[in-house]
Amino acid sequence: MAKDKVVLAYSGGLDTSVAIKWLQDKYDLDVIAVALDVGQPEDLGAIQKKALAIGAIESLVVDATDEFVDNYVTPSIKANALYERAYPVSTSLSRPLIGYYLVDVAKKHGANAIAHGCTGKGNDQVRIETAIMALHPDIKIIAPQREWAMSREEEIEYALANNIEVPATKESPYSVDENLWGRSVEAGVLEDPWLEPPPDAYSWTKEPMKTPDETSYVEIGFEKGIPTIIDGEKLSLKEIILILNKAAGDNGVGRIDMVENRLVGIKSREIYECPAAIVITSAHQALESLTLTRELTHYKFGVEDAFSRAVYFGHWFSPLTDCLKSFIDSSQEHVTGSVRLKLYKGSCTVVGRNSKYSLYDHGLATYDQSDEFSHMSAKGFIDIWGLPNKVWSKKQGKS
Ligand code: ARG
Repeated sequence: MAKDKVVLAYSGGLDTSVAIKWLQDKYDLDVIAVALDVGQPEDLGAIQKKALAIGAIESLVVDATDEFVDNYVTPSIKANALYERAYPVSTSLSRPLIGYYLVDVAKKHGANAIAHGCTGKGNDQVRIETAIMALHPDIKIIAPQREWAMSREEEIEYALANNIEVPATKESPYSVDENLWGRSVEAGVLEDPWLEPPPDAYSWTKEPMKTPDETSYVEIGFEKGIPTIIDGEKLSLKEIILILNKAAGDNGVGRIDMVENRLVGIKSREIYECPAAIVITSAHQALESLTLTRELTHYKFGVEDAFSRAVYFGHWFSPLTDCLKSFIDSSQEHVTGSVRLKLYKGSCTVVGRNSKYSLYDHGLATYDQSDEFSHMSAKGFIDIWGLPNKVWSKKQGKS
């Protein structure tokens, strides 16, 4: 009789490699390995072969980069998504997409379980599982890392006993996750929040001291909130992100060092490298400051925060996120124009912005003779604006 099948999110690393064998041993399942390309610089062909060599009955590589850009990064750009005002939610965003493809493969192959290699302490287990629960509510989910209780040494022993290749080179002392929108680094010496990250924690960005002494400028053209032009050239968003990851990274831009509040209640010290995300978000905010009304700008800050938390907390496939995305989308109707930025030794500064929909009115803003603002109206405005506090002061006496 044919065995039941499990779809495993496979990364090619030790944990998910051991998981292939472990799922066969412990649950007597046939394993279908799935690796997702979300723009990480990695050889997925080699990873695909490795899964088969270990004993997966099938090994799939899904190129999901365009979908990641169109349906995940795009709304995040419009939302200026930053968790706790700092982290561009790069890892968080990829998890629901991974969940989506695990479900897709499970349905196509008639699998009745899905497995992933996340640990029991992180946010990623939550995001992948909540995505699966929303898309395939009744499928069984197995998290080998949470269940098997093997130490690192025992895992290596298990791998050796089962002819699973253990990386010969000393493995990175960090836990790293990468995609087109950023690189996340945690663990190792980074667990001491007082210690400055050693140089080997970084890979996409140069140490600011070692960057060019000349200033670099970059000009980004946006259409309805989305970058479409870079330095005069019309390119796809994916190409623009790739160019900016390199250009900004070479100038030391995009490093984030923070202690963040995980969903599972732990505070953790995280390092991120998100050069394109930082540049694009700065530029997008600058263009919004020109094209959105004050009221919309201020209201949207709250929506941006709600969106970022929904992404970080694993509520991607949810009515809340759908509604937030609708609001954010409609706010972008006139966010069209250009922003010029200066990249220099780790800093990214907006130095110019323009838009055919600009609400900036020189006649109103200027202090020179062409001033059109009604100074006399200000008097009546202030009388009424300050009235509530004037009444309060007289009655309850602050003076
Ligand atoms: N703390 C970040 C987040 O929750 C990054 C997680 C990184 N994941 C990893 N496997 N290293 O989104």
